[in-house]
Amino acid sequence: MKAVVIRKHGGPDVLSYENVKNHVPKKDHVIVKVDYCAVNHLDIWVRNGLPGRKVSFPHILGCDVCGTLVESFEGFKKNEKVIVYPAVESGVPRVSYSIIGGFGKYQGGYAEFIQVPPENIIRKPSWFSSKEACALNVSYLTAWNMLERSNCKKNDTMLIWGANSGVGSAAILLAKAKGIQVITVASDLKKLNHAKKLGADHVIDRSK
Ligand SMILES: NC(=O)c1ccc[n+]([C@@H]2O[C@H](COP(=O)([O-])OP(=O)(O)OC[C@H]3O[C@@H](n4cnc5c(N)ncnc54)[C@H](OP(=O)(O)O)[C@@H]3O)[C@@H](O)[C@H]2O)c1
Repeated sequence: MKAVVIRKHGGPDVLSYENVKNHVPKKDHVIVKVDYCAVNHLDIWVRNGLPGRKVSFPHILGCDVCGTLVESFEGFKKNEKVIVYPAVESGVPRVSYSIIGGFGKYQGGYAEFIQVPPENIIRKPSWFSSKEACALNVSYLTAWNMLERSNCKKNDTMLIWGANSGVGSAAILLAKAKGIQVITVASDLKKLNHAKKLGADHVIDRSK
């Protein structure tokens, strides 16, 4: 298969588009043909490398993946459109985990195919396009974990920084779904108007 591989840490020049061996099907794993893989800041951290965090090379980046099932399994049919839930080896609530394509042992989605545990397969809701669905995984998981850890409940008030950021916009939508009063911060009028459209109750322009 074709993939973008890194063989060492570094700048964009360490990304190498090349032919690599197809995944050897592993027991209790599922292969997904990658339709879309979003670019997440985590890709840059892993590519650059962080002190104390190990990656085994060659490594394939890419944590926000949406694709097509290569084979049927359990209740899923071959060719179904699915989202790859990015956290592995975690319990619920998922506050401690490693991320597929990140610093863990799983190769990511900068490739034609990805191999993941079956519990990481989520049916793509038909009301999302595949392109939209691949943009949600890690930022929504991060926002969800922060909301869970905060023990917030209905009618609480929450301040969300960076209203238009990936995590901030996810946090606004999830907090509103939990019935929380949201105050949010952004740096210009366009972003503040967008935050209101997402459902923020009050907005603050940090540039003023
Ligand atoms: N995206 C993910 O999946 C993910 C996962 C785990 C952790 N994180 C972490 O969560 C944070 C947000 O990530 P993101 O991907 O959502 O970021 P992002 O989309 O790049 O947005 C960052 C936001 O921060 C605000 N900002 C930038 N520079 C600032 C400054 N100097 N002072 C104050 N505000 C500033 C900007 O909003 P305004 O200019 O409008 O204020 C911007 O919208 C980062 O620390 C990231 O490392 C992200």
